[in-house]
Amino acid sequence: MPIVKTSKLITIERHIAEEGAMHPEATGEFSHLLRDFTLAMRILARDVRRAGLNDVLGTTDGSNVHGEQVKRLDLHANDIIFRAMDHGGHLCVMASEESNGLIRIPNEYRRGKYVLVFDPLDGSSNIDVNVTIGTIFSIYKRVDPTLVTDGELEDCLQHGYKQVAAGYCMYGSSTQLVYTSGNGVDVFTFDPTIGEFLLTYEKIRIPQRGKIYSVNSGNAHIWPQGIRDYVSWLLRPSDDGLRPYSLRYVGTMVADVHRTLHYGGIFLYPGDARMPDGKLRLVYEVNPMAFLVEQAGGRATDGVNRLLDVKPTSLHQRIPCFMGSTDDVLDVERFLQDALQP
Ligand code: AHG
Ligand code: MN
Ligand code: MN
Repeated sequence: MPIVKTSKLITIERHIAEEGAMHPEATGEFSHLLRDFTLAMRILARDVRRAGLNDVLGTTDGSNVHGEQVKRLDLHANDIIFRAMDHGGHLCVMASEESNGLIRIPNEYRRGKYVLVFDPLDGSSNIDVNVTIGTIFSIYKRVDPTLVTDGELEDCLQHGYKQVAAGYCMYGSSTQLVYTSGNGVDVFTFDPTIGEFLLTYEKIRIPQRGKIYSVNSGNAHIWPQGIRDYVSWLLRPSDDGLRPYSLRYVGTMVADVHRTLHYGGIFLYPGDARMPDGKLRLVYEVNPMAFLVEQAGGRATDGVNRLLDVKPTSLHQRIPCFMGSTDDVLDVERFLQDALQP
């Protein structure tokens, strides 16, 4: 699987501007919004690369709305994104995993027609041990784009299929920004020597079926029966050689989904006896990833429903998620369905 799949030399800004030109109604405002966001990603790429040398590691004394201990880099990333995005005049409201409620645009700045929801630092448990982490983002148009007032909660709780763009920045062996605005999934690799994100992989297409499953097996004792049956089935050798699958689990959704996009297979975070809705948050983790997976030709459901069709009811709601190669997601749905049969 080649990691570089393009010949043209093009920055993310030029790519977005060219894509924007394909949308006659585009005012360039969207391109400017994304340009501001890539500035935050450049700064975070720098700070993550030097974590341990600068003063961004370790934990804070606080915990977030999820009761999770907040790492210093969580708050730093949240602050950098806020400061890069609050004054451009493109947004009417923001929301983040690290913010209890809505993030208001300061009074002195113009309100725009877009909404940004984001997970500033995904994979916090991996920060202090130099394992790949990321940032996840999702952009909507506000429900009533004619308004110039503050955005409201409903603007942040739209169906995932209404996303106008989504993506993630992955701080791994290289820093890659993976992005879709509904026209396929493209990968931009950060070149720190010139400070640009350059297109390195165009239009990812996820294989119809893979050979890797990605799940926290530490929860197996409290999984629903259908998931236990599914994983046992994956691990039984089959005559056609398609099984057994291999397990790969980083514990950073961005890294596990990125691998799944390229290699195929399935990423799953099921509900269980302890957390019936699973762990991952619909609005700023699951929906952006589901948009990317579908744009790459894959499938993303909660085990029954298409994730992008689920109407969010609260900012931090969790939802079970199964996403990746279409045939693999259909398999797990079948096992969940069969387990319900009397
Ligand atoms: P975050 O660091 O933003 O809270 O997200 C962590 C998430 C996600 O990145 C990953 O897939 C999952 O937590 C791992 O959870 P477990 O440690 O329970 O497997
Ligand atoms: Mn996360
Ligand atoms: Mn996070």
